[in-house]
Amino acid sequence: MELQDQKPVVLITGCSQGGIGHALALEFAKKGCHVVATSRSKKTMKDLENDPRFFLHELDVVSDESVKNCVEHVIEKFGRIDVLVNNAGVHSVGPLAELPLSAMEKTFNTNIYGPMRMVQAVVPHMAARKKGKIANVGSVSTTLPAPWAGVYAASKCAFHSLTDTLRLELRHFGIDVINIVPGDVTSNIGNSAISNYNQMPELKLYKPFEEAIKERTNLWKTSKTTPTEVFAMDTVAAVMKKNPPAWSTTSNIGKFTISNYNIMPEWNLYKSFEEAIKERAKFNQTSKSTPTEVFAKDTMATVMKNNLPAWFFSGRYSSIAAILYPFLLKILF
Ligand SMILES: NC(=O)c1ccc[n+]([C@@H]2O[C@H](COP(=O)([O-])OP(=O)(O)OC[C@H]3O[C@@H](n4cnc5c(N)ncnc54)[C@H](OP(=O)(O)O)[C@@H]3O)[C@@H](O)[C@H]2O)c1
Repeated sequence: MELQDQKPVVLITGCSQGGIGHALALEFAKKGCHVVATSRSKKTMKDLENDPRFFLHELDVVSDESVKNCVEHVIEKFGRIDVLVNNAGVHSVGPLAELPLSAMEKTFNTNIYGPMRMVQAVVPHMAARKKGKIANVGSVSTTLPAPWAGVYAASKCAFHSLTDTLRLELRHFGIDVINIVPGDVTSNIGNSAISNYNQMPELKLYKPFEEAIKERTNLWKTSKTTPTEVFAMDTVAAVMKKNPPAWSTTSNIGKFTISNYNIMPEWNLYKSFEEAIKERAKFNQTSKSTPTEVFAKDTMATVMKNNLPAWFFSGRYSSIAAILYPFLLKILF
C-alpha cells in the first residue's frame, strides 16, 4: 500500500529505551514523520507501544531473515522508506591481544555487516523512486586512537569509509548518505559493553590493567556527556535538510573530527557516475604514482631504525596524511 500523505517514513535500527535510536525515534515523530522503531525485542521499546506515531517491529541486524522480514512488512504497510537510520551498534572493550575473536566478529557483524545488510535491503526500494536518505551512525572513536577500544574503533573506521563511498555510489540514484558522528552521548552503551566484557574469559597478560579496562565503560557516565535528546534534535534537523551535510555531529569532540574530514579533496570524485568509477580505476596508473622500488627503499630504511615512528608515509597522497597526523597527535595527547 502506498501512503497518500507526504510524511516521511523513517526506519531506525536499535531503538531500545535510553539509547540514541530511541531519542531519534521520538524526535523524528515530533517532526511529523511515520517512525518505524525497531529493536531486537519489542520489550525494550514498551513506552512507544500505544503511540500511533510509531510502528514497532523486531529486527536483528545480524540476521538476513530478520532484515528481509522487517523491510518487507514496512513496504507492505507504508509502500516506501524515505529515511533509513543505521543506528544499532555494540561496543567491545578489551585489549586486542586477548579479546576473543568471537567478540571481534560480533562487533564487526553488528557495526558493519548489519548496516550493510540494511542498505542492501532498502536501497532497491529507494532507487526505484530515485529518492531517499541513509543516515549511518559512526563514531568519533575513529580519530581518537585509545587503548581497550580498538575493535570498536576499527569497526567504526570501516563504517565511515563505507558511508563515504556509499554517498558517491548512491548519489546517482537520488539517495543522500549522511555520516552521523556521536561522541560521548548519554546512552546504555557503557552498560552493554561491561556486560559483554563480563562474559569474556579471564584476562592473562592484561590482568593488572583490569580496572583501567573496565573504567573505559564508564566513559558515558560523566556529567560531560551530551544529552541524548540534544544529540537527537541536532541529528534529525541535519537529516531532514533538503541538502543534508555529508557528516553531522553535536558534541565538541565530534566537531573536531568533522573539521578534519571537510578538508579532504572529496569533490574531485563528484563527477558523473561512470566517469567517477573509471577515474577511480586509473588512480594508481598515473605518471605521478610513486614507483614501487622508491616506496620499498623508504619503508625498509624506516623499519630498520632504532626508534620507529608511529606511522610511516611515502608517496604523493600519503604526504597529506603525514602533515595531518603529527598535528592531530599534538593536539590530542
Ligand atoms: N553513546 C555514544 O557516546 C556513542 C558514541 C559514538 C557512537 N555511538 C554509536 O551510536 C549508536 C547507538 O548507540 P547508543 O550509544 O545509543 O548505545 P545503546 O544505548 O547501547 O544502543 C544500542 C542499540 O543497538 C541495539 N543493537 C545491538 N545489537 C543489535 C543487533 N544485532 N540488531 C539490532 N539492534 C542491535 C541495541 O539493542 P539491545 O537493547 O537489544 O541491546 C540498542 O538498541 C551505536 O552505533 C554506537 O556505536 C554512540
